[in-house]
Amino acid sequence: MANDTMTKEEYLNKAKELGAAEKPKELQDTDFFTVAKERRSVRQYDASYEMDEKDIREILEAAILAPSSSNLQPWRFLVIQDQAAKETLLPIAYNQQQAVDASIVIAVLGDKIAYKQADRIYGEIAKKGNMPEEMKNTYVNSILENYGNFPEERRSRIAAIDGGLTSMQLMLAAKAKGFDTVPMGGFDEAKFVETFNIPENLEPVMLIALGKGAKAGFEKTRLPLDDVLQWNAYEK
Ligand SMILES: Cc1cc2nc3c(=O)[nH]c(=O)nc-3n(C[C@H](O)[C@H](O)[C@H](O)COP(=O)(O)O)c2cc1C
Repeated sequence: MANDTMTKEEYLNKAKELGAAEKPKELQDTDFFTVAKERRSVRQYDASYEMDEKDIREILEAAILAPSSSNLQPWRFLVIQDQAAKETLLPIAYNQQQAVDASIVIAVLGDKIAYKQADRIYGEIAKKGNMPEEMKNTYVNSILENYGNFPEERRSRIAAIDGGLTSMQLMLAAKAKGFDTVPMGGFDEAKFVETFNIPENLEPVMLIALGKGAKAGFEKTRLPLDDVLQWNAYEK
């Protein structure tokens, strides 16, 4: 077999040469199953389209409704909107053109010390009458004790899991509102952190390019459900 490989940059940039020629589908029906089926990773964008802050906020408001470990909501969002900032990002994202052509790129970040917000979050829950005050205090103390003593690696994994959940919700919300996205793990994380002054407690989960798609992404190809599905337990 020929040993053909590509550099990371070639690999990441090849995908947009393929895919469908037509524009992404504009959905009339935003029923959940339609949105889930029709969302595709879109790599070509209308570079002249500027998103309203209202639309960005509405998508993010839906994204933060995602579930999270102990409801600690460790997600943080850096919205990269200015053209100059997007151009700075371009080489860091291995020259993936969507980094500059999409209206914005949202860096989804995970806060490794999100547990420090426990009192604020559970205080709000208690204030709403959804938890008695003493129970809230016990909860908060347990969270501070447990999460505070977890090794950093574990807090980082939690931040990545919860960051993934909010990211998915963000992409589906964007599609339901008539926008397109592509999640991007192809970027130099260390350079990104340094260039965008990401605080030490935050770590990148993924970048999400968001805007008006100019060319539809690939039609979906998935392993058959039965190849990825097991009931009850795996056999020994
Ligand atoms: C964590 C993650 C990182 C990804 N990184 C990139 C990326 O850097 N560049 C890119 O073009 N697509 C990237 N993708 C998109 C995948 O290639 C895409 O989701 C997959 O091919 C399935 O296609 P679909 O999203 O259209 O269903 C990434 C997806 C995920 C979930």
